[in-house]
This record gives sequence, structure tokens and C-alpha cells, in this order.
Amino acid sequence: MNTISQNNRVLSGMRPTGLLHLGHYHGVLKNWIELQHSYECFYFVADWHALTTHYEDPSIIAESTRDMVIDWLAAGVNPGTATLFIQSRIPEHAELHLLLSMITPLGWLERVPSFKDQQEKIKDKDLSTYGFLGYPLLQGADILMYKAGFVPVGEDQVAHVELTREVARRFNHFYGSEPDFENKVNAAISKMGHKNARLYQDARKRYQEQGDTEALSIGHALLESQQNISLSDHERLLGYLDGEGRIILPEPQSLLTVSSKMPGVDGQKMSKSYNNMIALREDEDSVTRKIKTMPTDPARVRRTDPGDPNKCPVWEFHQVYTDEDTKEKLAQGCRTASIGCIDCKQYVVDSIIEELKPIQQRIKEYLGDLSGVDSIINEGCEAARDVAQDTIEEVRKVMGLTGRR
Ligand code: TRP
Ligand code: SF4
Repeated sequence: MNTISQNNRVLSGMRPTGLLHLGHYHGVLKNWIELQHSYECFYFVADWHALTTHYEDPSIIAESTRDMVIDWLAAGVNPGTATLFIQSRIPEHAELHLLLSMITPLGWLERVPSFKDQQEKIKDKDLSTYGFLGYPLLQGADILMYKAGFVPVGEDQVAHVELTREVARRFNHFYGSEPDFENKVNAAISKMGHKNARLYQDARKRYQEQGDTEALSIGHALLESQQNISLSDHERLLGYLDGEGRIILPEPQSLLTVSSKMPGVDGQKMSKSYNNMIALREDEDSVTRKIKTMPTDPARVRRTDPGDPNKCPVWEFHQVYTDEDTKEKLAQGCRTASIGCIDCKQYVVDSIIEELKPIQQRIKEYLGDLSGVDSIINEGCEAARDVAQDTIEEVRKVMGLTGRR
């Protein structure tokens, strides 16, 4: 447990492969927006990840990258709190990916479920590439670069975070022992002040000699409360506490996003690849048309045929948008054929339009101020790069790459 990152940092990325839709909004963005209040958040456009599958025609990547950031901002991601950046503008991610590849057993990558699943599912692309095999490791580099404690991901990405943890553990095992580790630890301990230093030593002893996990928690809490020790000293002291050596790349945890109930307009999950999505930029007419032409309970052939909401894909939208009282009324109306599908769908149309209106208004404003958007991105990239350069320096050093200095 103690090798897990203790910090308050959240990192997540999205691939720029098309327009953002309601599924992204309800499934991912609302969660990001929530997290930015309590964590130090880094959100980025994973354009290299998009290339692993869209290498033959990357035009969609170029088109979507800035638009994606605009949609994030319009949905409420706050660049004053969160750092927004573009993966390929931080070349250190590529270097870390390369360096981590040296210690990553091939079998670990081949066993990641998405590797085979996607190859089987996506038939129109050849995904037996080196880049695609390395997809989860590149993601690991993204995460470890910022020493993120938490990674909000959907179910399908949990295995990637798990791989990241294993790679971090292996990395720390190989490179976490410094020749002058003890000296550095002692210097760090002396910075804690006499009383805290004694408490720390005490907790360490109790944990290491008696396996007292409560003492371990006390040690952690003590380190958390130290304001005047550096991040690397903090990591040394963490490593010393459990006897593992220094933790250079702390292990992240997944924050599982409860998967969005947002259905597509055909009743399947909303997804660009099923062509059943409502984009955040969808205009009113198109929203209306898409909902009004949705299939309903097949039993309702005529207006006078009663139906069952549980057999109707439109009902899934009501679960997202409609309050309990109205839902009860509509379900009753459906079962007794006292309400028509057109009327029932109108509620959904109205809710979606109302939800999208302020977002689209802000999208319009950002589109009218592209240089403003670009400076948000530039500032984010600079801030991210500062962190990335610190990490990569540390990694180069422990891997013997001091040639450039
Ligand atoms: N693979 C993620 C997805 O498809 C995107 C991603 C890339 C990511 N790097 C990441 C997510 C790092 C979280 C952390 O959704
Ligand atoms: Fe579906 Fe509503 Fe029609 Fe019932 S009335 S079948 S819930 S659209």
C-alpha cells in the first residue's frame, strides 16, 4: 500500500478522434469538472494515442485537437484550476515511454485485454503494430510523468492503470536504490525536527519489526504533514519507511468513473463508431430529428397500442434527464396508450436542447476567440512541461543517462 502515490494529483486524457458528444459529457467531462474542485488536475489531448489507431488518415486528429479543448472549456473545465495540455507538445512523454519500454516485458503488454479485443473488434484497421502494442505503456508514461495519484478512467482502461502500477513497481525496484540512500534519508529526517523525527523512526521500527500497519499509517500521516521537505526527500522517506528504497515513480490508483447511462439514438451505447451520437455542437433541428426518429417499444405500432418503457430506448434518455414524477406520469401514459411517443420524446428533446444551449453559447464565444484558446493551451503546455522535465531528469539520472550534462 505504501508505494501508492500519496499526492493529490489527478491526470486524465482523451483521444482527439472526433466531435465530443453527450456520452463524453455525462460519462467523463462532468466528472472531470467535479474533480477539479478538490484535486490538482492535469487534463490532456492524447494525440499520440489517437495516432496508434488513426495512423492512415490523421486528418481527424488535426481537426479535433483544438475543438476538443474548446468543448472541454465550454462544458466547464476551468483552466484556472486545471492544467490543460496536448500530449505531443510535451516530447518528454515519448522519452519516458521509450525508457519504460526497456524494462517492460512483452508479455505484460500482450496480456492487456484491450490489445486483443480491439484488434478483433476493429476490422477495418491493421492494429498489429508496434505502436498499438505499446498503447498502454504510453499511457503509463503519461501518468507516471506527473506522478499522478489518481486517474479517472472508464472500466475499459482500468487494466492500463494496473499495468502502469506494475511498471512503476519494477522501475522503483531496479532504480530506487541510491548509493548514498541512507545518508540522504538521514539528512531528510533531520529536516523534520526533533520530535517528528523521533515519531517517524518509531513508526518505521514498529512497522518493519512487528508489521504494525497502524504504525505505517502514522508514518504516512506524519510525512504528509511535513511542509518543508522536498518531493524527492518525501519519496525517500516513504521508501525508507517500508524498506523498499526510494520510490521514484509512485503507483497511481484508478478512479473508476461510473459508466454513463447515456444511450445512443439507436439504443446501443452512445459512440461515434456506432453513428448514434448527439454531439455537444448538434443544432436544435438535428437534436429534434434524431430523437424523433428514434425507435421505441416495437409493440407500439399504432398510437393506440400500449407500450412498455423498459423495452424502449427513449426511456434510457428519460433516466438521465427526467424527474421521477414526470417519469411516473409518462410510464403510465405509455402503458395505457394515453400518451403518444412523439409527446413522450418531446420531453427529451427539450431537456437536451436546454442542456446544450449554454454549452453551445460558450463554444461560440471560444470559437470567436481562438487566440484566447491558444494561450490557454500554451500556458497549460508550459506548466505541464515544467513538471515533465523534472521527472525525466530524475529518470535519466537513475538510468545512467547523464551524457548530456
Ligand atoms: N487511453 C485513454 C482513452 O482512450 C486516453 C488516455 C491516454 C489516458 N493517456 C491517458 C487516460 C492517461 C488517462 C490517463 O480514453
Ligand atoms: Fe417509449 Fe415513450 Fe413511446 Fe413509451 S411512450 S414507447 S417510453 S417513446
